[in-house]
Amino acid sequence: MQEPAKLLLENKAWSEDMVAKDPGYFMSLAKEQNPQFLWIGCSDSRVPAETIINAQPGEIFVHRNIANQVISTDFNCLSVLQYAISVLKVKHVIVCGHYGCGGVKAALQPQKSDLFIANQWLVHIKDVYRLNQDELEFLAMEKKVDRLIELNIIEQVYRLAHTPIVQYAWKTDQKPTLHGWVYGLENGLINELITLDHYTRINPIYKYAD
Ligand code: CO
Repeated sequence: MQEPAKLLLENKAWSEDMVAKDPGYFMSLAKEQNPQFLWIGCSDSRVPAETIINAQPGEIFVHRNIANQVISTDFNCLSVLQYAISVLKVKHVIVCGHYGCGGVKAALQPQKSDLFIANQWLVHIKDVYRLNQDELEFLAMEKKVDRLIELNIIEQVYRLAHTPIVQYAWKTDQKPTLHGWVYGLENGLINELITLDHYTRINPIYKYAD
């Protein structure tokens, strides 16, 4: 599949297929969305959110970026988070990273200045390395990458818990649960790394007072 025209043809075939199975499919889907999950994943083309969990349109609200990061100054991710929690009232927020993540691998290498914007994005992963340097620095490269991928996912889940959006929702009846998952490119399987809920004690320095 090389040409955009092929994508449009595939779209037409898909649409016709869905209507053949259920003539009212798009009419009912167009009325509203009521997803129970927010998915924050990596942009990597090999980790398509809906495909790997066999989700249908309408089931998951999705945000993807390089190395599935939750950055406290990224209004793109934060507005997706706020809308998903405050308006769509999702029950679960999932950060799903993956082994073999190019963003994490790149963060472990010296960067070239020609990619300065992407490099600034990766700096946050270098920070995760620095926070866990004692555990990581003596590991062989392959193990180091795998473990930093896991630690990066765990860090993003804590960053979600550090947002006023999640902390407020934890004080209401909604109480969304936060999940950190890692996907294996080589076997197509997801493993759970961490789950946080409203009982989780977070570092007081990140706590909002009201
Ligand atoms: Co990746």
